[in-house]
Amino acid sequence: MLPVSESPHYHQSELKKPKTPDSAKAALYSIHVYISTHPKSWLIFSILILQLLLLLMARSLPLSTPFHYFSTPIVVNCTSCGKVYVYDLPPIFNKELTDNCHTLNPFGGSRCNALSNGGFGQKATGINGIVPKNLVPAWYWTDQFTSEIIFHNRILAHPCRTLDPKNASAFYIPFYAGLAVGKYLWTNYSAHDRDYHCEMLFKWITGQPFWKRSLGWDHFMTMGRITWDFRRSNDSDWGSKCIHMPTMRNITRLLIERDPWDYFEVGVPYPTGFHPRAELDVRQWQDFVGSRNRPTLFCFAGAARKTIKNDFRGILLQQCHNESDSCRSLDCAGSRCTNGASAILDMFLSSDFCLQPRGDSYTRRSIFDCMLAGSIPVFFWKRSAYNQYEWFLPEDPASYSVFIDSNEVKNGTSIRKILERFSREEVRRMRETIIDYIPKFIYAEPKQGLGGIKDAADVAIDGILKRFSEHWRYKGND
Ligand SMILES: *[C@@H]1O[C@H](CO)[C@@H](O)[C@H](O)[C@H]1NC(C)=O
Ligand SMILES: *[C@@H]1O[C@H](CO)[C@@H](O)[C@H](O)[C@H]1NC(C)=O
Ligand SMILES: *[C@@H]1O[C@H](CO)[C@@H](O)[C@H](O)[C@H]1NC(C)=O
Ligand SMILES: *[C@@H]1O[C@H](CO)[C@@H](O)[C@H](O)[C@H]1NC(C)=O
Ligand SMILES: *[C@@H]1O[C@H](CO)[C@@H](O)[C@H](O)[C@H]1NC(C)=O
Ligand SMILES: *[C@@H]1O[C@H](CO)[C@@H](O)[C@H](O)[C@H]1NC(C)=O
Ligand SMILES: *[C@@H]1O[C@H](CO)[C@@H](O)[C@H](O)[C@H]1NC(C)=O
Repeated sequence: MLPVSESPHYHQSELKKPKTPDSAKAALYSIHVYISTHPKSWLIFSILILQLLLLLMARSLPLSTPFHYFSTPIVVNCTSCGKVYVYDLPPIFNKELTDNCHTLNPFGGSRCNALSNGGFGQKATGINGIVPKNLVPAWYWTDQFTSEIIFHNRILAHPCRTLDPKNASAFYIPFYAGLAVGKYLWTNYSAHDRDYHCEMLFKWITGQPFWKRSLGWDHFMTMGRITWDFRRSNDSDWGSKCIHMPTMRNITRLLIERDPWDYFEVGVPYPTGFHPRAELDVRQWQDFVGSRNRPTLFCFAGAARKTIKNDFRGILLQQCHNESDSCRSLDCAGSRCTNGASAILDMFLSSDFCLQPRGDSYTRRSIFDCMLAGSIPVFFWKRSAYNQYEWFLPEDPASYSVFIDSNEVKNGTSIRKILERFSREEVRRMRETIIDYIPKFIYAEPKQGLGGIKDAADVAIDGILKRFSEHWRYKGND
């Protein structure tokens, strides 16, 4: 039983792809036949043929622009989809947390660098020669847990934001839930410590007039960690119980890993290091990763857990070492792989495929690091991406990724053999699909977004506004 993709569904309409020469020839031939039977249409067809020839010539032009990417922008219409009001929360729920970033690291040390630059972190260093020179300023060492800050900034500058709650159909709660709990997760804190901010927030929000109107149905927030960090059911377990608190019931949550069975949770892409300053940065990056020479078939960045018997990542590392002519690995023991270090970026940029096993949870930031570099993710658990990021990734998993059941790998199936079965053409198509989707899973640098193209923040906010307006329309029709 092979998990291999048959005829990947491909977003033809969104991508101007070169046709194969054969289909062009066939088209010319059928035109020829048509002309010989309808001589008067010659003039029209000569124009058509001229255009066709121009098109074909354009296709054989330089490698620097191998593809042209047209994302279909979702047109937000604040009149039909509604406006968003951003609560001005007491600072204890956001500003005080970032102001006290030096105390937020559970292991001591500071989180200030990670939270700096609006959640993008420090400017990336050591990537000269890895990314195009003029794109270096668009790269940061971004922490994976900063989406609360990024979304807050973006919503404040959103064209559909309103300062008048009476005119709003969506209410954003800019609570930094992940930063509030992150410090208390590991060390010897009590359940009360981990729930404190959440309980306070709910006390505050339930006193607001516009909360009472909808009981949370038109409210949303970002929680910058995985959902399981907020779903404690037993006080002796991991995490806060924020999501299990009754007030949370009807609030829509943007999370880097969602509970696939919870309608109110929307999986949003992990923040990665590329924060384009303008549309041109995105286009240049797409062309760059699309024209890369990729000498390595597949790669893996991860650490084996020596303590876990039969550790899956250990198996992957072993296979990779065994196949060293087609696989490149980076042992991430210690903290060598944190925050998209340049060695990982270089590895993804040089590989056709990247292995993405589950980690402590199903998803990993690495999935997005990999795709951003134009490498095709290989999943071993369906929940690693397929039921997570529906607004941001292609609908058909086989169009952009490979699935190999983890049990087959444990049974000794060779990953290399499976990947080698994909033709160059299939690999190229998957990569083009990924590259076409890049704008949807990155976070742009300007707070207003990029204008012409929608990034992850735009897609998420548009999606929320649409969902809320559909909800009220549906309720209205009851
Ligand atoms: C937005 O939607 C409203 C109502 O559906 C419509 O009247 C208006 O023309 C739309 N505006 C744009 C710019 O599409
Ligand atoms: C808000 O709505 C009121 C009517 O309810 C309207 O008069 C006002 O212009 C609106 N304000 C904005 C900023 O749209
Ligand atoms: C946790 O705290 C208790 C009391 O404050 C202390 O006795 C215990 O040693 C601590 N445990 C750890 C692992 O730090
Ligand atoms: C909660 O965890 C404790 C310690 O592991 C256990 O004794 C208790 O039965 C658990 N309670 C529930 C309701 O699962
Ligand atoms: C959630 O919304 C429903 C109505 O759809 C309401 O009955 C319920 O009380 C709300 N829950 C909370 C905690 O407000
Ligand atoms: C790696 O190669 C060795 C020797 O060829 C073999 O014994 C071992 O089973 C292989 N391991 C994996 C994970 O393929
Ligand atoms: C793995 O191997 C075991 C026994 O060798 C077999 O029972 C099982 O069905 C295999 N699983 C898969 C997914 O191939």
